[in-house]
Amino acid sequence: MLPSNMSSLSKLEYFVLGNNSFSGFIPSSLVMIPSLICLDLGMNDFSGPLEIGNVSKFVSLETLDLSFYNIGRGIVDLSFFSPLMSLDYLDLSGNNLKMSSTLHLPSSITSLALLSCNISEFPRFLETQTSLEYLDLSANQIKGQVPEWLWRLPALKYVNISQNAMSGFEGSADVIQRSAIYMLDISSNAFHDPFPLLPSDMNFFIGSNNRFSGEIPRKICEAVGLFTLDLSNNNFSASIPRCFENLHLLSVLHLQSNSLSGDFPEQSISFHLISLDVGHNQLSGDLPKSLINCSYLQFLNVEDNKFNDMFPFWLRLLPGLQILILRSNEFHGPISSPGESLSFPKMRIFDISKNRFSGVLPSDYFAGWSAMSSPVVYFEGQGRSFISYQRMSFKRLSSYHNSVGLTNKGLDMELIGSGFTIYKTFDISGNRLQGSIPNSIGLLKELIVLNMSNNAFTGRIPPSLLNLTKLESLDLSQNRLFGEIPPALGKLTFLARMNFSHNMLDGPIPQGTQIQTQDSSSFADNPMLCGVPLQKTCGGKEEARKQEQDEEKEEKDQVFNWTAAAIGYVPGVLCGFTIGFILTPYA
Ligand SMILES: *[C@@H]1O[C@H](CO)[C@@H](O)[C@H](O)[C@H]1NC(C)=O
Ligand SMILES: *[C@@H]1O[C@H](CO)[C@@H](O)[C@H](O)[C@H]1NC(C)=O
Ligand SMILES: *[C@@H]1O[C@H](CO)[C@@H](O)[C@H](O)[C@H]1NC(C)=O
Ligand SMILES: *[C@@H]1O[C@H](CO)[C@@H](O)[C@H](O)[C@H]1NC(C)=O
Ligand SMILES: *[C@@H]1O[C@H](CO)[C@@H](O)[C@H](O)[C@H]1NC(C)=O
Ligand SMILES: *[C@@H]1O[C@H](CO)[C@@H](O)[C@H](O)[C@H]1NC(C)=O
Ligand SMILES: *[C@@H]1O[C@H](CO)[C@@H](O)[C@H](O)[C@H]1NC(C)=O
Repeated sequence: MLPSNMSSLSKLEYFVLGNNSFSGFIPSSLVMIPSLICLDLGMNDFSGPLEIGNVSKFVSLETLDLSFYNIGRGIVDLSFFSPLMSLDYLDLSGNNLKMSSTLHLPSSITSLALLSCNISEFPRFLETQTSLEYLDLSANQIKGQVPEWLWRLPALKYVNISQNAMSGFEGSADVIQRSAIYMLDISSNAFHDPFPLLPSDMNFFIGSNNRFSGEIPRKICEAVGLFTLDLSNNNFSASIPRCFENLHLLSVLHLQSNSLSGDFPEQSISFHLISLDVGHNQLSGDLPKSLINCSYLQFLNVEDNKFNDMFPFWLRLLPGLQILILRSNEFHGPISSPGESLSFPKMRIFDISKNRFSGVLPSDYFAGWSAMSSPVVYFEGQGRSFISYQRMSFKRLSSYHNSVGLTNKGLDMELIGSGFTIYKTFDISGNRLQGSIPNSIGLLKELIVLNMSNNAFTGRIPPSLLNLTKLESLDLSQNRLFGEIPPALGKLTFLARMNFSHNMLDGPIPQGTQIQTQDSSSFADNPMLCGVPLQKTCGGKEEARKQEQDEEKEEKDQVFNWTAAAIGYVPGVLCGFTIGFILTPYA
């Protein structure tokens, strides 16, 4: 609540309350202050009417932010703001707006944000806003075509019309090209071919979630000023154009969820790339080796394609790589190379699941993953991909490239922005990896998600797993692990999901509320496992005998730092011998 009488502040010029949780009424004494230059009440929980009275008295008001002031309550007549002759910045987002056909807003306005205002037609009054530089009409219900006159507004630079129902552009193919727009977001509409020609000094084009189809138009390569090109979630087919090599400045290239096919041309890679996403296409062949020259690369996603390459060890040379997703391709071969420790110091999300990787993990496999081992959050300058339009400082302008949907982690996480930077995951599930899980896994103390399911891992669950105290999801199912589940596992308090099913584990399931509340399928198909949540109870005698065996095995483990290579399992572990496994001292 604000104090009810603020009229003593008669010389107040800047009143900025935006992005807080103030509630109650706006005292009319406040809005009566004629000296105000900036009034920012946006994004609060105010209720009740805003009694501004005759706005003509605000001769100096330049910045007015009433965004999300009045959500769903009442209708704001835009003509109300017409007398504000000094107005430069107006944000009425999230209000229900009324616009008459004769509406004129002050021509001084340079920034106008009307996102989520229930607008259903392209606002005609904009045609006379000759100072307008920044226009946000996103998240409305605007239908039809973008009027030709928009591109003739002399000062216009930034246009966001995403999340509407627009289908095309009025005028000739080069209407946009002849403008000086440098950022255009038309994502999440119903735009279809022909694809517009873009100005050569445009920096950002976001055309995702539309209905463009056919080949990616080669003309796009004439927009040589592009930093960000997002054509994801369309229906583009054929191959990635080689002429992308002309886009020297490109730092964000997102082409995911199209029907692109063929090889990824080496030369189409800009060395300025920070974020490359070509997931969910039908690309094949090798990963382009020219990526090795992208020293700023942080994010690489090629999931769900047909890449048929060896593990890209050379990516190790990219110092800033934080996210690598190779999931669901035809990658194959080992994921470690003898004599060289794999070191991805900044890697936070490593997902190579559902490929055909094979071989064993050397004991020091997890040694070089600093970002997963230490709480330090590496998050660097966003470079040019970070959409910042300083002067505007619209609150909702946020980082663009570092958002990724991670819905198939069993945790349904969609992490964006800052929350995203702390998410650390290691997923090598669905491959043909074998040997034991190296004890060095315990180094990855910052892991939230660990998935090693669906491989041929053998040996025991390494006790060092208990060092992963932040773990929320652990899946070791469908391997050939034996021995007991470490009893102290119940102490991993954040561990909400775990799955040990389809192994050869034995002994009692550890106690702990987190564990007992798991679905029994998480422990299923381990013939020797007993205790809640399984039906099978643990007999006292059985436990005593188990303990003996454990001690025996523990000794062996200490003698050999071994890799157990499975040559077919004979279920006989209960008898205390690891029949069917060759014990090889690990050099
Ligand atoms: C607000 O305060 C001023 C002096 O500080 C006083 O003159 C005025 O009557 C007050 N108004 C109300 C509505 O209380
Ligand atoms: C607002 O004030 C101006 C001058 O101060 C006056 O011309 C105008 O008629 C007033 N408008 C209303 C609606 O009272
Ligand atoms: C455009 O508006 C949408 C919806 O408000 C927003 O999510 C998106 O980030 C904006 N685009 C840019 C480039 O700022
Ligand atoms: C990396 O860049 C250098 C210098 O521009 C070039 O000679 C080399 O061929 C590039 N490497 C790859 C793999 O494209
Ligand atoms: C682990 O990965 C497998 C497939 O690779 C997937 O089916 C499973 O749901 C994942 N586990 C969790 C807990 O997300
Ligand atoms: C696990 O943590 C303990 C105690 O902090 C430490 O002594 C041990 O070396 C750790 N093991 C691994 C593999 O990180
Ligand atoms: C555990 O994994 C198995 C197969 O890997 C799956 O069938 C089962 O549904 C999973 N259980 C839970 C609770 O996720």
